[in-house]
Amino acid sequence: MQTAITTQDYRLPPEQVPETVVETLGRDERDECIRQIKCLLREHNAVLVAHYYTDPDLQLLADETGGHVSDSLDMARFGHESDADTLVVCGVRFMGETAKILNPEKRVLMPDLHADCSLDLGCPGDEFTAFCDRHPDHTVVVYANTSAAVKARADWMVTSGSAVDVVRHLAERGEKIIWAPDKYLGEYVQAQSGADMVLWQGSCIVHEEFKGRELEELKQQHPGARVLVHPESPAPVIAQADVVSSTTGIIKAARELDADTFIVATDRGIFYKMQQAAPDKTFIEAPTAGRGATCKSCGHCPWMAMNSLTKLQTTLESGANEVFVDADVIRRARLPIKRLLDFAAQRKQPVYGRNDA
Ligand code: 13P
Ligand code: SF4
Repeated sequence: MQTAITTQDYRLPPEQVPETVVETLGRDERDECIRQIKCLLREHNAVLVAHYYTDPDLQLLADETGGHVSDSLDMARFGHESDADTLVVCGVRFMGETAKILNPEKRVLMPDLHADCSLDLGCPGDEFTAFCDRHPDHTVVVYANTSAAVKARADWMVTSGSAVDVVRHLAERGEKIIWAPDKYLGEYVQAQSGADMVLWQGSCIVHEEFKGRELEELKQQHPGARVLVHPESPAPVIAQADVVSSTTGIIKAARELDADTFIVATDRGIFYKMQQAAPDKTFIEAPTAGRGATCKSCGHCPWMAMNSLTKLQTTLESGANEVFVDADVIRRARLPIKRLLDFAAQRKQPVYGRNDA
């Protein structure tokens, strides 16, 4: 089956990628900030929902205060099940929006509303709608890393852990697929499912930087190491993987596989949970071309890094940075998300990442 591609390249130009700035606080300042945040969470009946790529202090806080650390979809599901009035989403904007779409009655806050994602930015709603209109006989499948407006135009939303199964299911029904926005994940899904797909040409600025040849060399230096790869990575990197999986699946593989050393091609923020899951094992970052060569973020998402302790404290104090989504967009965007939830429930599929990944 031939995969068609869109002509326009939606890769984000480097000048639009912010520097990755990681907040560093002195010990006393950090401890005081954490103490204040714990009080504020109780005061506002708020709960922290954090992604694996965020700062370890935020993940620890979420774990210690009855919150949750996981992948994007499960972050939203947890918020839905929680009886907190306020969800504080430590992650990137589409995660805050998804939380709001599934929990419109709750207040959703984020430490920084500018925490974006190159996949989301590289798929503008109006251009995506025009693209879909040009392929009216295709089923529209979008990745979770998209805006609420793009989800509102979709038939299905999928996550990295569920994309292959959903697309294979649709292909078996004879459906042709529009896939957006990640071209690498789209190519991987197409290769796995054999589906007839038209691919949007977006990419993740973090995963796109992992390099196949350098990975080959690193593997030679660590012959016993297993390679764990997130499917937003380019094909030459995926080709060398022992496991290709979502963030939750990568953590699970680190714990379950019979190996001492792992080379990991995803944002290094995940190492915090991997080390908790498998404390005696060694994790090595997969190589990028390095700062000053082609990569800017070099293995750590600049937008995830915008979530800091001090911004979290300020957000809880002021109630600023609330996520709002238009009611009609919520109504339409819920459908593709619900389809995935129902599909997963029917197949008893673990699309949800859990701390016990
Ligand atoms: P997961 O859903 O696998 O956590 O991926 C989210 C993401 O943004 C990866 O870059
Ligand atoms: Fe988006 Fe990539 Fe950052 Fe994930 S790591 S939030 S895909 S830019």
